[in-house]
Amino acid sequence: MAPPSILVQRDYDDLSHAGADFVASIVAARPDATVLVATGETPMGLYAELALRQKAGTFDGSRLRVFQLDEYAGIADQDRRSLYGWTLRAFVDPLRIPHERVVRLPSRSDIPGGCAAYDRSVADAGGIDLAILGIGVNGHVGFNEPPSDRWTTTREVELTPETIRANTRYWGQEERIVRRGVTVGMTTLISARRVLLVASGTGKRDIVRRAMLGPVSAEVPASLLREADDVTLLVDRLAWNGMA
Ligand code: PGA
Repeated sequence: MAPPSILVQRDYDDLSHAGADFVASIVAARPDATVLVATGETPMGLYAELALRQKAGTFDGSRLRVFQLDEYAGIADQDRRSLYGWTLRAFVDPLRIPHERVVRLPSRSDIPGGCAAYDRSVADAGGIDLAILGIGVNGHVGFNEPPSDRWTTTREVELTPETIRANTRYWGQEERIVRRGVTVGMTTLISARRVLLVASGTGKRDIVRRAMLGPVSAEVPASLLREADDVTLLVDRLAWNGMA
């Protein structure tokens, strides 16, 4: 366990390029790496940059093995809010990764059984080489809402009001608000060989500081990532010191 490396970029574009360089260097060393892939707005520029490089033939992510990070509970595949669907659109399909190489989380039937099967798949794959994660304004990673301790496994959770509010950014004010999620547990995230945590904009500044500089605590689940072997925080200036 080493202190996190902190990479501060000028703006969101630079963050996305630096994130793509980071992922590309891992994939160059290990083309069939196991990668946990977050949805959310922050990593979208990074994924778009990887997609451009894939198209240009300067990067090949097609052999990656992808693990889904989180999902809403009770959502059908065709629902536009499916996080599995978002993962396919943003990462898997642009990088031409066959869908058989994606390990999904359960969202509808037998969630406990599906979560246990997911954790077995992580173990069978030899663990996660790279976890690409965002951070919620309440300090969550995936849907590990506060408090989530370091021993949490993949499971169904109740979403906090902050997360439900933040998620209306993606889907608008839905009539039927989804209040429960399924998430990879902190124990898998902390065990990842590399963790890339991305954050952008002033709205994330306070929580980024608490996660990186405050006490390591289940109350700020992202702070527990400091117990991982190799963590890189990739932020723009706004998310680090509030200065453009
Ligand atoms: P965001 O989401 O990247 O859309 O800000 C981060 C998160 O809630 O984990």
